[in-house]
Amino acid sequence: MAPSVQSAIFDAVLPALPDGAAVLDPFVGSGITLDAARLRSLEFTGIDINPLAVLICAVKAGPLRCAEFLCSARSVGLAARFDSRVGLDHEFAGLEKWFRHDVATDLARLRRAILDVDDDATRDFLWVCIAETVRNVSNSRISTYKLHIRLPHELRRPLRVIDFFEAVAESFTEQLAEHASAPPDSGRDHYRMARLVCGDVRAADRTVLPPRSFNLVITSPPYGDNYTTVPYGQASYLPLHWIPASELARTTKSLHPTTAYETDKGSLGGSMKAPPGRPPPESEALAVTLQLLSGEPAKRIKRLRRFVEDLDHCLERIIEACVPGAVLVWTIGDRHVGGRPVPLRQIFSELAVSRGLSKKGAINRVLSPNRRMAPRNRHAPRMSSEDSLVFVMPTDR
Ligand SMILES: C[S@@+](CC[C@H](N)C(=O)[O-])C[C@H]1O[C@@H](n2cnc3c(N)ncnc32)[C@H](O)[C@@H]1O
Repeated sequence: MAPSVQSAIFDAVLPALPDGAAVLDPFVGSGITLDAARLRSLEFTGIDINPLAVLICAVKAGPLRCAEFLCSARSVGLAARFDSRVGLDHEFAGLEKWFRHDVATDLARLRRAILDVDDDATRDFLWVCIAETVRNVSNSRISTYKLHIRLPHELRRPLRVIDFFEAVAESFTEQLAEHASAPPDSGRDHYRMARLVCGDVRAADRTVLPPRSFNLVITSPPYGDNYTTVPYGQASYLPLHWIPASELARTTKSLHPTTAYETDKGSLGGSMKAPPGRPPPESEALAVTLQLLSGEPAKRIKRLRRFVEDLDHCLERIIEACVPGAVLVWTIGDRHVGGRPVPLRQIFSELAVSRGLSKKGAINRVLSPNRRMAPRNRHAPRMSSEDSLVFVMPTDR
């Protein structure tokens, strides 16, 4: 989701909500909607099934004590350099496959030093820094979401883990400092009106999604064009192994931390079974697409059908949490299954209209062709553009 598009949407929609906005992003990811809501001092609820996404958002919500964070990161770096222990403190399946011994040793030193930091908010920031460090120094390629081992010559590359961690901390504090100084929130380093929850939108109870509570939903649901997997858990699988569960539980509050498998299972289009008795999604475009795909392997067709069912289920839950007259903006792109186009924008629009929303318009954005993709997925054409589809709830609901 592009921050510029996001801002334009907020600016266009807010005048229609004269009493202020209570914003919901049910797929908050790394929090681009959160950033835009914070800038405008709006009440915000963000949900994500991935604990790392929620941790990142929690750090962005503040307190943003950037100078202190950077100072702590440097002290942690120094403590790690003076730590001569070679043991790892914790183990997990695949540790030796995904981390060189020297790299794991340095990560363990950083982890120990972070655990010695007293302040919770500072530690959260440092965990996000270690997560980004892990992503870069592991033996997995970073060009793909799914875990793929690097080529032999890359596995032998020189790596200065602690230097890398410090550089990440520097870059992240610069980014956070920009947030901290951005008007109209200036002078306030804690976005108190933000509520962040880790969990599956479909399972959210009334405390997370109270009925008739939000008047602005701005979101981009998962719609990956990687047909082989639902890769949200994969993207955070290795980093999450380096953050102690008790630390994650503190930020993600309502939920226990999930494994990569659980995250992918519960993600839209994942392997979690829909509750029995749900009516099928009402979309003519889906019915036509499934017909056109009838020559494709049954598994592929089933996966698409389940993804749309999940999307429809989320939409139902989200609409229940909206007030009459609420504005809902969904950024979504078409995808491909077996090389054939799936008109997801049209399908989603039909789902929304079948649930009583009226479509107000769309902002189209052409995507850069530079995003890289794993060779095994290259047979599928890339998504070339996405739409921010704007809907309104009827006022007489
Ligand atoms: C396209 S990304 C959102 C990107 C986001 N707009 C941002 O600023 O980074 C979709 C997000 O939905 C989350 N997600 C997938 N299935 C979910 C579910 N069932 N409930 C809650 N979040 C889910 C994923 O973990 C992922 O972070």
